[in-house]
Amino acid sequence: MFSDAFLCFSWSGNKDYNNGLLVTKITNMAVGLNKTELAGENSVLATKSHHQSPPLPPARVKISISYPGKLAEPEVLATVKTTYKKIGQSKDKVAGKIGPNSIIWADNWFGLHSLIESGNKAQLVYIDPPYATGFDFESRSQEHAYNDSLTGAAYIEFMRRRFILIRELLDDNGSLYVHIGSQMVAELKVVLDEVFGPKNFRNLITRRKCSSKNFTKYQYPNLVDYLLFYSKSDRYIWNQPTTTPEPAWIEKEYNKVDERGQHKLVPIHAPGTRRGETGGEWRGMMPPPGKHWQYVPDKLEEFDKRGEMHWSKTGNPRRKVYLSADKMLPLTDYWENFRDAHHQSILITGYPTEKNFDMMKMIVGASSNPGGLVVDPFNGSGSTIHAAELLGRKWIGIDQSFVAAKTSVSRMIDGRQPMGDYIKKTETDNLFPSPSEKHEITDADFNVYVDSEISESFPAEFADLSLLMA
Ligand SMILES: C[S@@+](CC[C@H](N)C(=O)[O-])C[C@H]1O[C@@H](n2cnc3c(N)ncnc32)[C@H](O)[C@@H]1O
Repeated sequence: MFSDAFLCFSWSGNKDYNNGLLVTKITNMAVGLNKTELAGENSVLATKSHHQSPPLPPARVKISISYPGKLAEPEVLATVKTTYKKIGQSKDKVAGKIGPNSIIWADNWFGLHSLIESGNKAQLVYIDPPYATGFDFESRSQEHAYNDSLTGAAYIEFMRRRFILIRELLDDNGSLYVHIGSQMVAELKVVLDEVFGPKNFRNLITRRKCSSKNFTKYQYPNLVDYLLFYSKSDRYIWNQPTTTPEPAWIEKEYNKVDERGQHKLVPIHAPGTRRGETGGEWRGMMPPPGKHWQYVPDKLEEFDKRGEMHWSKTGNPRRKVYLSADKMLPLTDYWENFRDAHHQSILITGYPTEKNFDMMKMIVGASSNPGGLVVDPFNGSGSTIHAAELLGRKWIGIDQSFVAAKTSVSRMIDGRQPMGDYIKKTETDNLFPSPSEKHEITDADFNVYVDSEISESFPAEFADLSLLMA
């Protein structure tokens, strides 16, 4: 016979990186069994009677990926001094000190060091780095935006160094979201566990990124990408995001109606035996074998008096749970409704791989508080910092691409444009949209910093940025 406990053990066995502790905890949560029940005669496992399989390493040892050239953490964190030119401040060189509400045109290796050395502490870091696709990316106006050529160990170590800097930049209540494709999600999960600790892993979120894909030969068409969500500690900012339930879900879930309205019937018992009142008699009935009442008998009486108990013809009680007008559901780790630009009226900047703006607002709202600092070191078109500004957070965006710096500066000033309009336009039009084409404009007061070496190598681009800010 398959007992609940047996099923649960086999299901959660692949999560056993904590010497059985995590398995026990999850099993408890899933079926409500206590320790004695879990160790009971129903939990018979074949492995218990074998003594000759080769010994396994201790579950608590640290797991890491190894490759040559892996810098020790102190080397990654050693001070790096960079100077910047602040746009609008002619020849002034700013040594390191960069505060909130800044766009930085620099390699984030230097940018992140400068933010740490300036004493910034972030509540939220979101990154959407290159995915190791081997592609070059162009903007809609055919400018080269960035390349995604790092692969293998070089890519992993590039990301690991940034994760270490990001962990340093985060406040104790802060979180990191890493948006990534299927190419590197497995490797980055292991590296993030190494840098943040497996206990700070919160979710692997699957996001539906597009509606449909052309037929792909010899493999399944790819419709999703992923977000790895880590907190710096176990006390992190969390403002529960919710969604409105689909009408079809409501119809199916709340499938009963009475004079008080639409409702569902739920059992009043749960798995696991109890010694106290919830394990005893109520109205001459004991809970079914192996189960306990979910509420003490007084509470069950109250439900019945209020007409919130349904009695079947055979005398089986179930509780009525009524649908409220403001019924919301917690957002799960499958994000169906945050697809990237998919119809002509969607507002965009034209930067490649620009992420869904509603998703960015949701992440900023969930994992930071008003007034807190949000940082995106792979800033791209500025989706994260724009969302942060609209939601009353402070922000800093870093990107090494000139097109990204230019796009995010003009986005903060002029917002985005409908995708349909964009296709007809020239690059100059994109940079200077007419007032009627401005959307989601912010009145943000912000600074633009350029790594001094970059500004010296690219004076024309530096002048372009200065013009935008003038
Ligand atoms: C996928 S895009 C980000 C898109 C962005 N999330 C958006 O919504 O527009 C990745 C960005 O990382 C930037 N990038 C890559 N390597 C970098 C580095 N070492 N330092 C700073 N930025 C970098 C690229 O220039 C590119 O803009």
